[in-house]
Amino acid sequence: MLKFSQSPLEEAFVQNPYSFYEKINEGGDLIFWEDYDLVFAISHRSVNHFLRDRKWGREVPEDKKCPYSDHLTPFLKIEENSLLEIDPPRHTKLRKLVAKAFTTNSIAKLEPEIELIVKNILHNLTDDEIELQKNFSEKVPVLVIAKLLGVEASMADQLLKWSHDIVAMYQANRDLDKEIQAGKASAEFTEFMVSLINHRKTSPGEDLISGLLASEIDGENLSMDEMVSTCILLLNAGHEATAFALGNGINAIIDEGLDVAKLDDPKFVPMVVEEVLRFDPPLHIFERYAKDDVDVFDNTFKKDQEVGLLLAAANRDPIAFHNPNRFNPERQNPGNVSLGAGVHFCVGAPLARMEMKIALRELFKYFPKLKLVRKPIYSDRYHFHGFNELWVAP
Ligand code: HEM
Repeated sequence: MLKFSQSPLEEAFVQNPYSFYEKINEGGDLIFWEDYDLVFAISHRSVNHFLRDRKWGREVPEDKKCPYSDHLTPFLKIEENSLLEIDPPRHTKLRKLVAKAFTTNSIAKLEPEIELIVKNILHNLTDDEIELQKNFSEKVPVLVIAKLLGVEASMADQLLKWSHDIVAMYQANRDLDKEIQAGKASAEFTEFMVSLINHRKTSPGEDLISGLLASEIDGENLSMDEMVSTCILLLNAGHEATAFALGNGINAIIDEGLDVAKLDDPKFVPMVVEEVLRFDPPLHIFERYAKDDVDVFDNTFKKDQEVGLLLAAANRDPIAFHNPNRFNPERQNPGNVSLGAGVHFCVGAPLARMEMKIALRELFKYFPKLKLVRKPIYSDRYHFHGFNELWVAP
């Protein structure tokens, strides 16, 4: 197995990790990344394998869990019941109950509301130079997920703040201050959700929280802790990744000189969304742990051993994607892995795709001559690949 060294915090790498991926993609299915002291799956076939094979799970083995102090108790409580942190059989029950409320049909019904949210945001963008990341890319998903869960739109900024503070726990630059903030945000967010869920118990509506409360399979429902974790996960996962994906998409479309009139073609716009997700995805790394000793891709993994999955490198695998560094929405490819695969495949995928489709189409319809005012800078959070600011001129 080839070994590579690359600091994930180095500025040039954060701005363009794809040069590194191009280099390591010559390394086959697995590489050893010295800075992480970890084996990584980098090819399209190996990443897919680890995502789908039940011999691998997301649950962190007991002896590998970080020593957590008291300030993280509220954060841990959310994690304990989060879909993303548990494996079958517990995951199967929870996922089925969530999927029952979060169906493709219920998402499809949201289409006109999402369009309205997007158009309202666009009407307020009147300056000669506009910062689109905070004023558009972040706003669309947070308002959509708030609408879906039946949370007041006026709570959007507070939701963003809690969510950013919690998500900082998963980033390369985590430190004690960030942990304390995450613990505080988790406690406040939990208190808010408990009160909202209790309210919905007595006065249910058309929203997803009411749907989750009503969701029942073989007499089993979601417990209060599971409800809280699920709602917080949906709120966090529902906008953090989508916000970055939108910003990255806007940048790619302008930078690559795409004919934006074609975004009005209902067959073409989903292809653009898929290519944006492949070309510059918002989430680059996930992990899996071996449930047992496993021999795979000429390597022996011991039980509980961790493997890193470099989704963004798999999307640039030259064996799977012809001319992978070219942005080409017309490509006929196997699917990208940006939304995962297997049992943990993104629950929000239909929603994310629909939001991206509507937001990109409407943005470029409203501002057909959109230009970048300056080259946007990716934030220093590496695994979460996206911009803090995206300045454009209409
Ligand atoms: C472009 C936007 C998005 C991207 C790139 C993305 C990516 C992902 C990926 C890669 C996973 C699987 C992680 C793993 O296998 O370890 C995942 C899981 C998940 N995503 Fe998304 N996601 C996006 C949007 C959303 C939205 C809009 C929602 C909800 C409203 C959402 C909710 C979830 C949930 C709940 C899971 C956990 C599923 C499970 O473990 O069973 N995501 N997402």
